[in-house]
Amino acid sequence: MGGNYMNIIESIQKRRSVRTYSGEPLNGDHIAQIEQFIKQTQAPFGVKARIELVSIHSSGEPVKLGTYGWVKGACEYLALIYEESPFAETAAAYWFEQVVLFCTSLGLGTCWLGGSFSRSDFKKQISLKPNEKLKIVSPVGYASDKKRWFMEKIVVNADKHHNSRKPFGEIFFDKDFNNPLTEIKAGAYAKPLEMLRLAPSANNKQEWRAVLENNILHFYKAPYIIFDSIDIGIALCHFELTCRELGIEGKFEILDIFPKNEKLKYVISWI
Ligand SMILES: Cc1cc2nc3c(=O)[nH]c(=O)nc-3n(C[C@H](O)[C@H](O)[C@H](O)COP(=O)(O)O)c2cc1C
Repeated sequence: MGGNYMNIIESIQKRRSVRTYSGEPLNGDHIAQIEQFIKQTQAPFGVKARIELVSIHSSGEPVKLGTYGWVKGACEYLALIYEESPFAETAAAYWFEQVVLFCTSLGLGTCWLGGSFSRSDFKKQISLKPNEKLKIVSPVGYASDKKRWFMEKIVVNADKHHNSRKPFGEIFFDKDFNNPLTEIKAGAYAKPLEMLRLAPSANNKQEWRAVLENNILHFYKAPYIIFDSIDIGIALCHFELTCRELGIEGKFEILDIFPKNEKLKYVISWI
């Protein structure tokens, strides 16, 4: 197929965090395809962001891009840089996930990293303007067939629900927060919501919720630590791109009236 064609549903289902790589640098064709995809896409909601592909081999001597042992054998990383504004993190995360899914469609491994990377190492390779933030990077490369069982086990144990997701009816609701939504009642939105459910989130917290009311979907996040705005951006990306792939029409809009929940923060609606 080439170009920037990708099957969204397939990529969402295939993606998982890869932390162990073969040590091989990305080939020129893969680099060109990723760079072209980045050039042809942008952060939604008018947010200013850029995604840089950085390599340990960009200059003569290999440079250090440290991850405190969390990632092994990766030569290239995607770095997400954005200018601060109220919706910047969410929109930038939406776009970064789009690029992650494109890399998945090329058969490459990725892993969102919010905590376990050396900011100073990366900042040496990327010049940030004073108003720019670097909060996320991801290795991108060829997954190793040799798993570091010890390391992967630590990660899995540190997060019991690693790779697992909350049931549909626990995160999606019908009319108000008292009624779980069934896939049957979700109708055409069943698939986009199912794809949202597979979104990666920091520590696999899955703190996104949605309420379906009169064919409008209201999206919420649980404000917990520093990654809530990023996690919801990834979730909105999975939802909207699946809608687009299935030909479901609609758009995001921030409404004044929506079902209230004292523990959750309203983000946006799909109308
Ligand atoms: C915003 C964000 C930050 C993350 N930070 C890290 C990190 O610092 N280190 C790490 O090993 N994994 C990190 N992850 C990966 C998650 O642990 C992983 O996505 C989640 O457990 C679900 O597993 P899966 O990606 O294999 O589906 C992060 C994910 C997200 C979305």
